[in-house]
Amino acid sequence: MAIMIKTLHEIEKMRISGKALRQVHDAIAPHVIPGVSTMDLEEIAVRKIAELGAIAAFKGYHGYPSALCTSVNEEVVHGMPNAKRILKEGDILSIDCGVIIDGFYSDAAVTYPIGEVTPETRKLLDVTSASLERAIEQCKVGGRLGDVSAAVQDLCEAEGFGVVREFVGHGIGRSMHEDPQVPNFGVRGKGPRLKAGMVLAIEPMINAGGPEVHVLKDGWTAVTDDSSFSAHFEHTVAITKDGPMVLTR
Ligand code: MF3
Ligand code: CO
Repeated sequence: MAIMIKTLHEIEKMRISGKALRQVHDAIAPHVIPGVSTMDLEEIAVRKIAELGAIAAFKGYHGYPSALCTSVNEEVVHGMPNAKRILKEGDILSIDCGVIIDGFYSDAAVTYPIGEVTPETRKLLDVTSASLERAIEQCKVGGRLGDVSAAVQDLCEAEGFGVVREFVGHGIGRSMHEDPQVPNFGVRGKGPRLKAGMVLAIEPMINAGGPEVHVLKDGWTAVTDDSSFSAHFEHTVAITKDGPMVLTR
């Protein structure tokens, strides 16, 4: 499938979707504290999404049961909200959410520390977040998709972290997943040329240890093979002639 080019009008609609999604994340954030369950956070999200007149993009997607993915500690992505999963000091929690407004999807994730975390864990979150920012800087007309991928890989591997291979970012628009795939590993100067009107969901998934992951028997939850902690940050980013426009900021 070809990479879809969005008009300015379509990007404006995606910005509205992205802005609503940011409001969902902002509603959840103050509640990400010790003693709260991941299901408590799901309920906050569901309420906020309804209040905004949006649709939860993940719920029902290939049978996924929830509006949020809530991935704790060694869980990489696609952890499912659970009333029995109570957050405690020293944990980390990745919250991934997508919404649809007026037919347009947006997708964003953030990893939070729960109270005090170890310096190594703090560094994992900081480096993963910084790698997303570096990738966003590469989203300019005339660049290559490999520039985006390499920005994540080069920074994270230089810091000794494992870059997950099995899950990747993606184009996004009238579907959650469009072409192209946006790997978090790649070679500068390679891959499709970046054009104005492309919209990418860039989502580094980075492990404190090795890059290997596997999916649990629940069919969804991806975890690190070595049980090291994993971080996930994601933004939906439009490429415009004036540079990257982060739609979920
Ligand atoms: N950000 C993830 C993605 O791009 C979220 C999808 S979770 C699912 O695929 F539950 F909807 F599959
Ligand atoms: Co995504």
